[in-house]
Amino acid sequence: MTDNLEGRVAIVTGGGRGIGKSICENLSGQGVSIIVADTGGDIDGANPDASIAEDVASALVSPAKAFAKSVASPEAAEEMIALAVSEFGGIDIVVNCAAILRDGLVFKGATEDWDSVIETNLSAAFYLIRAATPVMRQQFKDGRGTGDSYDWGRIVNIGSTAGLYGNFGQANYASAKAGLFGLMRIAALEMTRSNVTSNYVAPFAHSRVTDIIEPANDEQAEYKDRAMKVSPDHVANFISYLCSPAANDVSGQIFGVRGREVFLFNQPRPIETITQSNKDWTNEELAEAVDTNFRDQFTKLETDLEAFNTEPIV
Ligand SMILES: NC(=O)c1ccc[n+]([C@@H]2O[C@H](COP(=O)([O-])OP(=O)(O)OC[C@H]3O[C@@H](n4cnc5c(N)ncnc54)[C@H](O)[C@@H]3O)[C@@H](O)[C@H]2O)c1
Repeated sequence: MTDNLEGRVAIVTGGGRGIGKSICENLSGQGVSIIVADTGGDIDGANPDASIAEDVASALVSPAKAFAKSVASPEAAEEMIALAVSEFGGIDIVVNCAAILRDGLVFKGATEDWDSVIETNLSAAFYLIRAATPVMRQQFKDGRGTGDSYDWGRIVNIGSTAGLYGNFGQANYASAKAGLFGLMRIAALEMTRSNVTSNYVAPFAHSRVTDIIEPANDEQAEYKDRAMKVSPDHVANFISYLCSPAANDVSGQIFGVRGREVFLFNQPRPIETITQSNKDWTNEELAEAVDTNFRDQFTKLETDLEAFNTEPIV
């Protein structure tokens, strides 16, 4: 544990429960002032309860404020930044962790569910990054704070392996989490000059979301049993590292955290090329070239549950 986050200011969306709450507790333990942004709603976003964010904020050991409105609007993003600046003097760390689930198979998915999940799990992150980055850029120019390495910012996007592998019934959720990857890369590219890093962390942890998994087969039952053993504190610990000066030059990356395992994921790049130099391909030529050069390197069609169905190290 380091003490070099003392005096920093963070906004943690979804900070009222599960992984977000652990992130708040870990950062707060290191002296970070926090806006705990959480509606306190059900997993699908319904039935907000302001006491969830308020209880977390009042129990943190460093200064904290609750923000109980939905983070899924441009106005809320501006309000959160204004609150961080007026209460704590700036904004150094943004953790986009709020998410809802509204699962449904792709041939049945409701438009309303698609819109809500994209708005909460992806657009909200964009709104907050858009509102935070002008302030972060100005802070960098102003040399915010005193002492060493105080001129940096952090954007941490809590993604999901569902957005990288896919999973049955999660068209909206996986699309939002895949979109978050693109957003993370753009923020990393555009904010490097202001010493602001942006990364994507796919967590594995016991939360109310793992509690409600209803296993459809033995493999899923096994996955659930394993997930229930993994504390969200491991994820929070890794986020604190990403926020520390030690990770000043770690940006644009996809990590995964499952208990004591930390994964670095690759990112899509061309891995093989076929070329037809002086005429267009025919279907037959393409079929043969794809079979010969690509097929044995195709990405396996497996879900994230299947890919990570091994015993976690906890
Ligand atoms: N638990 C896992 O294993 C796992 C796996 C993959 C990804 N994730 C991701 O980790 C993050 C945290 O998940 P969790 O498992 O702790 O779930 P959780 O449901 O316990 O926490 C999510 C929090 O976000 C809040 N929230 C939802 N919509 C909001 C909104 N519009 N405004 C403000 N707050 C809102 C909820 O009230 C809730 O407290 C999510 O982004 C989730 O997609 C979790």
